[in-house]
Amino acid sequence: MKNIKYLKPLSPLQKGDDNMGVLENKGAIEYSKGLEGVIAALSSISAIDGEQGKLIYRGIPIEMLAKHSTYEETAYFLLYGELPTKSALDEFVAEMKELRYLPKRVEECILELPPNPHPMDILKVAVAHAGLYDPDQLESCREGVMRKVIRIIAEIPTIIAYYHRARTKQEIVPPNPNLGHAANFLYMLHGKEPDPEEARIFDIAMILHAEHGLNASTFAAMVTASTLSDINSAIVSAIGTLKGPLHGGANERVLKMLDEIGTPDRVEEYVKNALMEKRRIMGFGHRVYKTYDPRARILKQYAEKLSDKYGDRKWISIGEKIEEMMIRELGKKGIFPNVDFYSGIVYSFLGIPRDLFTPVFAMARSVGWAAHVCEYTQNNRIFRPRGYYTGPDYVEYIPIEQRR
Ligand code: ACO
Repeated sequence: MKNIKYLKPLSPLQKGDDNMGVLENKGAIEYSKGLEGVIAALSSISAIDGEQGKLIYRGIPIEMLAKHSTYEETAYFLLYGELPTKSALDEFVAEMKELRYLPKRVEECILELPPNPHPMDILKVAVAHAGLYDPDQLESCREGVMRKVIRIIAEIPTIIAYYHRARTKQEIVPPNPNLGHAANFLYMLHGKEPDPEEARIFDIAMILHAEHGLNASTFAAMVTASTLSDINSAIVSAIGTLKGPLHGGANERVLKMLDEIGTPDRVEEYVKNALMEKRRIMGFGHRVYKTYDPRARILKQYAEKLSDKYGDRKWISIGEKIEEMMIRELGKKGIFPNVDFYSGIVYSFLGIPRDLFTPVFAMARSVGWAAHVCEYTQNNRIFRPRGYYTGPDYVEYIPIEQRR
């Protein structure tokens, strides 16, 4: 019994390195904490150059998509792998509009949900619930799966807006077929048509959040889908993963921090104390980018623009001061603003409540999640990594009455 070798390599981690090491057991076994640097799949959906601060979706730089594309066109491009022709895009947009409506039972249920849970939890519940009524639930052909995917992407904004209207005791506002995906969300949320310039800024923010390689939430969706589970389950896994403050939940906390700081002259002291106490500054740092996140650069411009438009530069001036100090203090370590740092300021000026920032992120990212799930499952292999056992080889079982 004592001689049994479990999945325990024969030699210990090299040099006590807790993060990355080579383990020897009939050849090398690599261990990377947090899977840093591990390539878990081949993908042609997006690529990040973390040193240069560049991001491409299927070869096109995001700056170009933010300038010329729409969320719907980008979604089509990510899902189908090619830019749509005019008629293909028209058809796709029409399908998305048609699928915006929730099943009656899901709508009724949202209206009855309690007002206090975090909206990300509501989103998880509602996406799972909507899956029960999906007429394509049992479809496994490519068109059927695509319809399921487009249905979820189209339903998420309605779920978020309906829940917000219901919890604030306002009438729900049904989707407006004359508006695009981003503008329609603002319309359903506020009950009035958005200013076209602001709708376009929101559309751009959605493009920038649509896809980002094998981040934690996308990977969670892929792991679930790799067991050949259904797409709703994969998206629910991703929503639960995006919720955490180290991932999509950071944007909400950035605004909380800006309010806590209050004025630009208090930034120096706040950041100094936080770093001394080893607290993280939300909206900074990234596993892949070791320089300025290109999405943050674009969102910063719109945060500036909206601050000037509303004559309120409080948040942006605190934000810029934090950025300056963080780059000075931690830039050499590769810590720069990430996508979450300026998005919250943009969303606040668009009248989006703070606890909806992460659901809005999910709304945009649902496309990336779905694109990766579809790509991976076409040539599927179940994800099943191994853990490195660090416990004892053998422990005697002591009957409970003899334990002390
Ligand atoms: N503030 C202060 N120090 C930081 C920060 C930060 N925001 N981020 C990283 N560091 C420091 C760490 O303390 C660590 O320092 P050390 O080497 O002296 O111990 C070093 O930088 C590396 O940090 P790790 O945690 O190892 O980096 P990792 O790649 O695991 O984490 C993460 C990346 C989670 C994004 C991290 O930078 C972080 O916690 N940022 C704040 C939360 C945030 O903004 N999340 C949103 C990310 S973007 C997205 O998911 C959409």
